[in-house]
This record gives sequence, structure tokens and C-alpha cells, in this order.
Amino acid sequence: MNSLTSLQIMQDAPVIPVIVIHDAAHAVPLARALVAGGIRMLEVTLRTAAALDAIKHIAQEVPEAVVGAGTVCHPRDAESAMRAGARFVVSPGYTQTLGQYCRKGGWVLLPGVSTASEIMMAMEDGYTELKFFPAMQSGGVAMLKALGGPFGHIKFCPTGGITPQNASEFLALKNVICVGGSWLAPGDVMVAGDYARITQLAREAVALKRRAL
Ligand code: 3PG
Repeated sequence: MNSLTSLQIMQDAPVIPVIVIHDAAHAVPLARALVAGGIRMLEVTLRTAAALDAIKHIAQEVPEAVVGAGTVCHPRDAESAMRAGARFVVSPGYTQTLGQYCRKGGWVLLPGVSTASEIMMAMEDGYTELKFFPAMQSGGVAMLKALGGPFGHIKFCPTGGITPQNASEFLALKNVICVGGSWLAPGDVMVAGDYARITQLAREAVALKRRAL
């Protein structure tokens, strides 16, 4: 059922929206608005009581979207997300427990790392596409350039502190395929029901240039 790879997920658009949903009723209109703007890969964070329902609704009602779960810290989070219909999972950090569990289950995991040692641990378990988190706080563009020396074959999705203003600096790096960010799904815009604004934000994100494709 899940034939996507993490590389394909990262290549689909320059930005993966990091979504925090407090009201599951916002999930489908949000997903449709993002898809209308050209963003299909959606990361719904497991940080709210509504998250699993949101994933379920998007999986069932927005077939053009590929919904994943973020903030996955343990195999049980991945299990719940997959049961709800998630097609990939994203973690803020790396543990062998989570990495090996997802690999064994054939589940697509985009694991978070922020140090050379964490990259080496993820590599040992076969992961070469990684989230760099929290990107700005962990050294930003300079750190990614430095990591590109010893880890030239690793591709990153920097997330954390990325904005429409600084995204291009990251996307210009040869080891960055896409970035992650919460600016595409602002909570107040969802509450106001201004989904046209979200489609506009998605269009602007899709237009960002990237180097490593
Ligand atoms: C998160 O986990 O909240 C993401 O890193 C999003 O961070 P951002 O709000 O800085 O985009």
C-alpha cells in the first residue's frame, strides 16, 4: 500500500507543512487548500488530541494528499498513526528502537537529527534522508554545509525556525531537498476559515527555487 520513499516525499515540493490541528474539522479543508496550492505531502503532528482524527479524515477524504504523522517519538506513535491512515512518519530525533521498528515494518520514516553522531546512528540503520531539527537553533545553513563534508550522500529536510524569508538559503544547499515549516498552516487562519490564504501560502512555497533535485 505504501510505495512512496522518503526521497519522493521530500522531492514533491520545496516545503513540507508542519501542521498542528486542534479541531479535526479543520483537517479536510486545510488539506484541500494545501493541495490546491500544490502541496500534497502533509505532516500532521501528534501533539494534539485531534491529530489522529485529522489524519484519518485527510486519508479518507483527500486522496490527492499524502498524509504523514509528525512528532513520532516511539513505535506506538507510529502504530497509531499508520492505523489512522498515515503513509509516512516524521520524528524529532533518532532512536534505534524507532528506526529499526519502522524499517522492519516497511514504514517510511523521516528521522530527525542534529548532530554527526545522530546521523551516524541513523545511517547504521539504513537512513540517508533525514530531517535536520531544530534547524536554526542547531546551526542552520552553516551547520548543514559543514555536515555536507563527511556526510555528502545524506540529504536533509531542515525544520525548525524556517520561514518564507530564510527558506531559500536552505534550499540553495546541495544537501537540502526540501524544508519543513509551520507557516503554511497558521492556527489563526484555520480558525478564521480563510483557506484561500492557505492556498496562496502554498503557491508561494511551491514557487521557491531549490538546487538539489
Ligand atoms: C515543529 O516541530 O514545530 C517544527 O519544527 C516546526 O517549527 P516551526 O514552527 O519553526 O516551523
